[in-house]
Amino acid sequence: TSAADEAEPKSYSDLLSTLPARGGWVSLVQYQNYWLNPGRLQHIIPVKELYKPRADDIILATYLKCGTTWLKALAFAITTRGRHHHAGAFAADDGGDHPLLTVHPQEAVPHLEVHTPGQGLADIEMLQSPRLLGTHLPLSLLPPAVVATSGSGCRVVYLCRQPKDVFVSLWHFVMDMRGGRSPVEMDAALSMFCEGVSPFGPVWEHYLEYWKESLARPEQVLFMRYEEMVADPVRAVKTLAGFFAVPFTEEEERAGVPEEIVRLCSFETLSGLESNRTGDLDCGDNTVIGKSTFFRKGKVGDWENHMTKEMGKKVDDVFEEKLKGSGLVF
Ligand code: A3P
Repeated sequence: TSAADEAEPKSYSDLLSTLPARGGWVSLVQYQNYWLNPGRLQHIIPVKELYKPRADDIILATYLKCGTTWLKALAFAITTRGRHHHAGAFAADDGGDHPLLTVHPQEAVPHLEVHTPGQGLADIEMLQSPRLLGTHLPLSLLPPAVVATSGSGCRVVYLCRQPKDVFVSLWHFVMDMRGGRSPVEMDAALSMFCEGVSPFGPVWEHYLEYWKESLARPEQVLFMRYEEMVADPVRAVKTLAGFFAVPFTEEEERAGVPEEIVRLCSFETLSGLESNRTGDLDCGDNTVIGKSTFFRKGKVGDWENHMTKEMGKKVDDVFEEKLKGSGLVF
């Protein structure tokens, strides 16, 4: 089938009926080793065919709940800083006019798999270079050209997070999305998570694909951890700017620009803004997500407040086993 055929919703319902399915905490179907939301297949599958990477694209790739919103905000603030550098622009409480003070980070940076089906990623094509693009897709569901060694490859930042905190964050997110309808036992959800049955899971496969690529092509794939960003956000911002080939000048560093970006994109600042507290994000197909859902606690180690030691050990054991020999350790 051609790309155009694949973009026809009809073929997705045919495809759907052939895929292994699981219910439980979320409905999922298994496609090419990953568990995906069946209603989103028509957004997810065409990306591999239709997304044409440009050499100056920057892809922000994450598993769910690993800090996508934060990374989007930071990357946006870093790469557009030339346009918003006047004094006071970043001031959340004092008349600043930075776009992130009024636009949700998830909207400031578009997501590759959130497009109008059948339109050939027109929204993404229309964007001017250099483009910042977010995605939750595993590397193997992106076009191979993304990490090609020849000219077409673009830069990818991958952000991962300690899996126990990912699970707790995801569980809250899913419960929020269900809006109180038939709550799911955390234990049952955890068992599925540890089986790999979570949206875009198995999580370890998602991590590993990007991890291996970051080892093979460090100049193209930057692998980061949420916990490291929390521990030293200024350093993370400088690393990102360097990777984006727009390092901070000495003058910017003296003026405290990296620190200003960290403050603007902090959980405290972003979660307090009206534009991030109210309203919904439109994900197409009548799917909306409350803008505030992307800001919960923003802490490292919150799993301890929700999971027993035994539950924590279960996650640790699975990840230790699955990541064995890769060099990736949590
Ligand atoms: P918690 O649920 O643990 O609080 P994503 O953006 O990938 O969906 O991830 C959401 C997680 O990142 C949530 O974690 C959320 O609170 C946290 N988060 C959102 N904005 C953040 C920020 N500016 N700094 C740190 N963490 C942030």
